[in-house]
Amino acid sequence: MRLLGFPPKLRLAPLWPALAAVLTATALLWILLPGLLERSASVQLLDTLRILSPIVRAERQQQGADAQAWVRSIAADSGLRITLVRSDGVVFADSARTAEQVTVMENHARRPEIREALATGEGHSVRRSATTGQTYVYAARTLTDAGGHLVVLRLAQPLAQLEALRGSIATAMLFAALAAGVAILVTSLWIDRRLFGPLAGLISGAGDLASGRRRRVALPEEEELAALAAALNRLAETAEAQLGLVRDERDHLMTILASMSEGVLVVGGDGRARLVNPAFRRLFDLDGGDVAGHTVLELLRQPELARVVDDTLRRGEAQSGAIELQAPERRTLLLESAALAGGERGAVVVARDTTELTRVADMRRDFVANVSHELKTPLAAIRGYAETLRDGALDEPPTARRFTERILQHCRRLQALLDDLLTLSRLESVASAEREPVDLNAVVQRAVDLLSATARERQVTIEVHEEKVATLAGDADGIERLVLNLLDNALKYNQPGGEVALHLSQQDKNAVLAVSDTGIGIPPDSLPRIFERFYRVDKGRSRDEGGTGLGLAIVKHVVQAHGGHVDVESRMGQGTTFRVTLPL
Ligand SMILES: Nc1ncnc2c1ncn2[C@@H]1O[C@H](COP(=O)(O)OP(=O)(O)OP(=O)(O)O)[C@@H](O)[C@H]1O
Ligand SMILES: [Mg+2]
Repeated sequence: MRLLGFPPKLRLAPLWPALAAVLTATALLWILLPGLLERSASVQLLDTLRILSPIVRAERQQQGADAQAWVRSIAADSGLRITLVRSDGVVFADSARTAEQVTVMENHARRPEIREALATGEGHSVRRSATTGQTYVYAARTLTDAGGHLVVLRLAQPLAQLEALRGSIATAMLFAALAAGVAILVTSLWIDRRLFGPLAGLISGAGDLASGRRRRVALPEEEELAALAAALNRLAETAEAQLGLVRDERDHLMTILASMSEGVLVVGGDGRARLVNPAFRRLFDLDGGDVAGHTVLELLRQPELARVVDDTLRRGEAQSGAIELQAPERRTLLLESAALAGGERGAVVVARDTTELTRVADMRRDFVANVSHELKTPLAAIRGYAETLRDGALDEPPTARRFTERILQHCRRLQALLDDLLTLSRLESVASAEREPVDLNAVVQRAVDLLSATARERQVTIEVHEEKVATLAGDADGIERLVLNLLDNALKYNQPGGEVALHLSQQDKNAVLAVSDTGIGIPPDSLPRIFERFYRVDKGRSRDEGGTGLGLAIVKHVVQAHGGHVDVESRMGQGTTFRVTLPL
């Protein structure tokens, strides 16, 4: 039986010695008391024998006395048994037998008390009588009768008290055991209430602490147990604080990992993933499933990534590699790894998407090449004309005038190119830095005025359909360039007799400017590229028109800097519409 979790053996522990003492005392009494009783009875019987022996001797001095009758008469009221035995052991008188019975009695020479008396003059013994089955105390003493013969006088007394004593001891023992039992029960209940109950409470409280069901244990009344409970609570407090620190640290780490643009993969010493951050999932197009416990190759079919992880784990030092991803889109990923130091062995792999960097580098290279190329042509032309002039053409005024005109034309082209480049670089470096109120209606009007001469020259009519649009906070110069560039293109890539329509309206919180023309149109495969720098559909025609291919790049830049967007629709031979939407 287990009561409240403690085996009863433990609960009763303090009582076992008491029970053992009671049992020992009982056992000792049981063993020793009868011996004492026997001894005192023997001594008493020997004393009686000593008193009786002179009387018996006097009786035996009388000739012809009937010994049997005499012993019976003496023993009659005493409760003693008197036996007379000859020195050869033959019984000749016994108060407990009739005369006839005495004649058939067994020889008593071998009875211990008789043997002892014959040897030393006196003897005694205690034993169970073979005849009656009762325990008797025997005492014997020798004396000489009238004939000078040695006679042994023996007295016997039943030891009835012995049985009584045994009975009392048994009863006493029973009572003592009962009393001990009651004492044990009472004490055990008391100990239980004072010690084991609160202790069991503490133990279950500590269990609850460990499993997190409770944050503190209740303080019991007992001082020592209360101290133990307080110590447990302090322990819980410290553990809680430390756990909190660890949790904070982990949360920080997780936040950092989550906000990183680089993909991070942490692998344990067994080569199995521990965690990945959201950027890693994004880069490798991994779904949201749990990655922990999977090998790298199970997660991703990327042998290079697996190699970087393996090498880092095997060599314990940083590795690097690169992966070209084909799907979902072409991308270049740079891998850098580090071996995890400290506690657990492992590796961290950081994957960085360098596609954009590579693209920007390519773009810059292209840009420089394009600019150089664009500068080279007019410069070469200017140089050619100048050399021809120097080498004699100056002397022919009409030729000289024509050449000077050409030089000026190329200079204007260079000027325009430089202007566009400067505008682009200004737009890039101070994106939306200066915001001022811009009146779009006025800007459109100015642009139409500025280009009306060109329109007349090209025999193109300009129509303006405008409604009043709220003022916009933005880059006034940039927006003016935007409108001019769109209008310029609409005129340039038009045909004589063509039309250009400008529509300015306000839709919700946006200003919408649509520039349509009835010009040559843009081939569909060029449409996605016309906003690139230096891109021209027909290089020859554009160049002849003095174009550099930067106009639409500037438009796109300005629109993006204002948080808007630009769309284009075009049909070959029918015309093109650019629609710019700018948030107000
Ligand atoms: N309205 C249009 N109709 C037909 N093609 C156009 C139109 N607008 C632009 N394009 C095409 O897109 C190309 C790029 O235009 P963009 O304005 O950027 O350069 P550009 O006009 O050649 O030079 P710049 O504007 O710098 O003088 C042009 O060369 C032309 O081929
Ligand atoms: Mg243009």
